[in-house]
Amino acid sequence: MAVSHEVVLERSDRVETIDVPGTETVLDAAERAGIALPFGCLTGACATCVGRLLAGEVHHSRPPRALKDRHLEAGYVLLCIARPRAPCRIRVGADVQSGLVENPWK
Ligand code: FES
Repeated sequence: MAVSHEVVLERSDRVETIDVPGTETVLDAAERAGIALPFGCLTGACATCVGRLLAGEVHHSRPPRALKDRHLEAGYVLLCIARPRAPCRIRVGADVQSGLVENPWK
């Protein structure tokens, strides 16, 4: 049986905790728990599902193509391909998304 890890999803207006088996992505486990998180490609290419790891460790099950090295160093993770390797705290929400992308119109 796969080891589960507790994952705390933090957003500006609420905090939710889910159990994520090591065989499951954070996005899938959240959906199973009734927590709707945004997603697009489900393959690590679009960054719609981006979160920021505040504590813990995740493993991307395929290359996170939507993230540059500087994003990975800053703790950004793609929840559609991220599987926890330890208990985690992950920031999610629009502020994480907007921190990732520089607005070319500004
Ligand atoms: S949904 Fe596209 S990178 Fe996760």
